[in-house]
Amino acid sequence: MQKIRKAVLPVAGWGTRFLPATKAMPKEMFPIIDKPVIQFIVEELLGAGIENIIFVTGRHKRPIEHHFDINSDLERHLEEAGKEAILENIREVSHMINPIYIRQKQQLGLGHAVLTSEPVVGQEPFIVSLGDIILEKGRKALSDMISIYNRFGKSVIALFEVHPSETNKYGIVDVKEVEEGVYKVEDLVEKPDSGEAPSNLAIVGRYIFTPLIFEKLKETKPGKGGEIQLTDAMRMLLEDEVIYAYKIEGKVHDTGNPIDYLKTVIDFALEREDLREDVLEYLQEVISRYTQLIDTP
Ligand code: G1P
Repeated sequence: MQKIRKAVLPVAGWGTRFLPATKAMPKEMFPIIDKPVIQFIVEELLGAGIENIIFVTGRHKRPIEHHFDINSDLERHLEEAGKEAILENIREVSHMINPIYIRQKQQLGLGHAVLTSEPVVGQEPFIVSLGDIILEKGRKALSDMISIYNRFGKSVIALFEVHPSETNKYGIVDVKEVEEGVYKVEDLVEKPDSGEAPSNLAIVGRYIFTPLIFEKLKETKPGKGGEIQLTDAMRMLLEDEVIYAYKIEGKVHDTGNPIDYLKTVIDFALEREDLREDVLEYLQEVISRYTQLIDTP
């Protein structure tokens, strides 16, 4: 069986949910305090032993390339200023990966973005990690998914439970448990309304695919939102191959829409010892200020 060596990170989307902030700035570069979202995704992959990282980028995504590149001027400045700790951190980021960038010339959907990576991925299994979800236990999730792939040699997707009112934000699956924590996918639907959802198990933006997905993507017609959807191609893949699913543990931090992004920043701030106390104090003050406002007729 072929080993999983490569990961595809589709980062070419418009980020319409964050316009105008995303007009000139990729949403993948939004900071979670002082680290961009995309760096968390890359660190998760490195932690799971995946070093070949392929970004599917677009016209306005250059800051991502700069982030993982060497910035000699900045390094010189930090050296002269004697800022050793941050200099070390900057150098670490610059040497973290040897990325490959491939341009998606038209933003025709997530499925189309994955298909764009075919010339670089070739005929081997690969990971797809979406750039807007940070998993608390991401390394474990990816390592577990790779083990499932190594046992069965078939595609594997990560799932988490969502509130029934949120099924229209995710790809939703119908599954059958085959052993503890491992499922076989029976059906998939992209962003169904709660009445039409087959379950409350959502795809959480981490996938392992066999290369057959590329053939299916070539046949996939525009679906939800007029876009070529990865979920629709997976549904076709299901006709020829089993797809396994794995329910992840730990918290899911979605950074793909304003309210969840805000919650993610607060969660991470509360995790940091240097910020926790100040943030808590501020949150308490805000709560009491607004409670008073609401209570005052
Ligand atoms: C994409 C996928 C969807 C998945 C979601 C979260 O949607 O199409 O199936 O559940 O990511 O990983 P998006 O959030 O890009 O609209």
